[in-house]
Amino acid sequence: MMNQGRSVFGKAGSSFFVLKPNSMKAAILKNLHEPLVIETTQKPNPGPGEVLVEVKAASINHRDVWIQKGLYPRITTPIIPGSDGAGIVTEVGDGVAKSWIGKEVIINPSQNWGDNPDFYGEDHKILGLPDNGTLAGYVKTDVKYLEEKPAHLSFEEAAALPMGGLTAWRSLMTRCRFKEGDRVLVTGAGGGVALFAVQFAIAAGAEVWVTSGSDQKIQRAIEMGAKGGINYKNPTWFRDLLVKARGPKTGYFDVIIDSAGGPGFAKLIDIAAPGARICFYGGGTGNITDIVPAKVFFKQLNIYGSTMGTEQEFADMVQFVNEKQIVPVIDKIFSLDEAEQALRYMDSGQQFGKIVLSI
Ligand SMILES: NC(=O)c1ccc[n+]([C@@H]2O[C@H](COP(=O)([O-])OP(=O)(O)OC[C@H]3O[C@@H](n4cnc5c(N)ncnc54)[C@H](OP(=O)(O)O)[C@@H]3O)[C@@H](O)[C@H]2O)c1
Repeated sequence: MMNQGRSVFGKAGSSFFVLKPNSMKAAILKNLHEPLVIETTQKPNPGPGEVLVEVKAASINHRDVWIQKGLYPRITTPIIPGSDGAGIVTEVGDGVAKSWIGKEVIINPSQNWGDNPDFYGEDHKILGLPDNGTLAGYVKTDVKYLEEKPAHLSFEEAAALPMGGLTAWRSLMTRCRFKEGDRVLVTGAGGGVALFAVQFAIAAGAEVWVTSGSDQKIQRAIEMGAKGGINYKNPTWFRDLLVKARGPKTGYFDVIIDSAGGPGFAKLIDIAAPGARICFYGGGTGNITDIVPAKVFFKQLNIYGSTMGTEQEFADMVQFVNEKQIVPVIDKIFSLDEAEQALRYMDSGQQFGKIVLSI
């Protein structure tokens, strides 16, 4: 923890910084299309209803890459990115119980959702833009977005959970109304969100299948409990997957969770079981094309979009993780100094699971 009264040395990664009182080290995006820079900056001051969290670990999401590339709405710079963090409450603002101080917490990045569980209100925001995020020594947040860190998780594991876990939870449980006996397909299983969907569906007792651009990642998903998978780089992957799963030509999967969109989405329509629910929360491979309307309406398919989640869904997701003792899959841990390398590593698509920064 930093000393408030005098200069101290702060260490992250291999370099030393002289930290003045009330300052902290942070990874800052100063301008679009530029690398993150590591600088000392003003430590945030918690206002009424807010807390200051000393960030012990943060994780990155593809959102951070999209923001850096200018491919995200309403970007303002400079900004400290980072939606996911786990740490210790060190200060509380007016109106917040002092008993929070010293608590180990994770932060719900989906803030100001509003009263309608079906759709967020116009004030909804995600930690890390427009407010400064977790790639820093400290972050401030409203106390209502704190959940106690699951005791079975390290700070690094807990920091991997918030955005990916929440997005997967709402997509699978709320939007697709997952029920026992569902056969679930998760596409691009190596992704941070996707792997939570795999873990949650397996923990809930589903028969889970995956796609990935890497045979090795498919194998790892199988080792985690998935029944099988197929490489989406194979042009006949959708037909081959039905054969592997011994499903009828009319389609096999009751629930499909996707973040790719793009031309491959139309194939998901082909392999969805009649009456299936398909949810996508990303469009990584571009616009969805070539959907044949008759296939959707004759099969009575339900296609949903999902973004983030409510406070209740975040609490339910954390409770499920505690109950099932789920441990997020971490691909690689970087230091805060290596934040830019962590973004580039994510951009390269090599990861299986989450990319974490130890702060
Ligand atoms: N709506 C929301 O609230 C929300 C929240 C979080 C993320 N997202 C979005 O969801 C996407 C994933 O985010 P993330 O943080 O999980 O990123 P990530 O860890 O970088 O995952 C991206 C994944 O996309 C998969 N992929 C790439 N090409 C594919 C293809 N042709 N078909 C199927 N899958 C493909 C890859 O799977 P393999 O490695 O297995 O090939 C890769 O792991 C991003 O677009 C992000 O912006 C949305």
